[in-house]
Amino acid sequence: MTGVVRRVLVVGAGQMGGGIAQVAARAGFDVTLVDTTDDALDRGLASIRGSLDRFVRSGHINSEDAARALDRIDTSVDVSSSASGADLVIEAIVEDLGAKQGLFALLDAACSPEVVLATNTSQFQIGRIAESCQHRDRVIGVHFSNPPPLMPLVEVILGALTSPRTLDVVNDFLVTCGRETVLCRKDVPGFISNRLSTALFMEAARLADEEIASPADIDKVARLMYGHKMGPLATLDLAGLDTALKVSTALSEHYGGDRFTPPPILARLVAEGRFGRKTGSGFYEIA
Ligand code: NAI
Repeated sequence: MTGVVRRVLVVGAGQMGGGIAQVAARAGFDVTLVDTTDDALDRGLASIRGSLDRFVRSGHINSEDAARALDRIDTSVDVSSSASGADLVIEAIVEDLGAKQGLFALLDAACSPEVVLATNTSQFQIGRIAESCQHRDRVIGVHFSNPPPLMPLVEVILGALTSPRTLDVVNDFLVTCGRETVLCRKDVPGFISNRLSTALFMEAARLADEEIASPADIDKVARLMYGHKMGPLATLDLAGLDTALKVSTALSEHYGGDRFTPPPILARLVAEGRFGRKTGSGFYEIA
């Protein structure tokens, strides 16, 4: 490691935060993983352990490297006290603007001004999240793909006030983590990736809603006709229908028109508690 980052604070131990913590620890960074409860941290750590075990079983890493990565991860339910030791913070909490602004106000007060504050938000403008901060030049978007340990691409998003140093720190960190990056140069809702994916995903959900074809056949078209690794409805189940509903509703409100509007089936599945893989069913029943 050559850059300024030694310790990374990851806030939110869900599927994205846990995955990001694992990627950073594998790259040799010390990591503190924070969530609101010990239960959430236990679930996050169990998922990291499971993922590292799979890498060991498939021969991608050896068991010593996996154990060393786990050793580098501390956990805490106290974000303020953990913030003081970090050089880079990556926020991966629930997709709620108020919650993110509240957390960034707290981080901005707890971290010295050179500490970079990154958000893994799916679609909120970086400038909106930074509104609660005094030092807005250190806030940046660092949008990992799901699941972070398997997906090499990270989208970096510049806020209007993000400093060149902030971008350098993040790029150094991501290169050390072995990630590929793309730069979203304008702070627009949904960035590059979620403007592309939400338009496709909502059209796939509309096809299912109108019962034009089964989820399996809709996904098969994307896989066999367009060469996607996973179909859009299976990807929505993986990402979480609750998060997808929030993202598509927010993009639809911002941009207007129909392209991002979630069809009724999405709200219906969420109301039934069918969030996708994390609850065991969504568009598909997941064993
Ligand atoms: P998740 O629901 O799996 O995890 C969120 C975690 O944050 C939970 O463990 C929750 O207890 C914790 N949390 C909530 N408020 C907190 C607070 N104030 N302090 C500390 N922890 C808190 O959600 P997921 O899927 O990991 O998403 C996290 C973020 O990443 C969201 O902003 C989402 O839009 C974004 N994202 C999600 C992707 C996906 O495919 N699921 C892909 C890329 C970004």
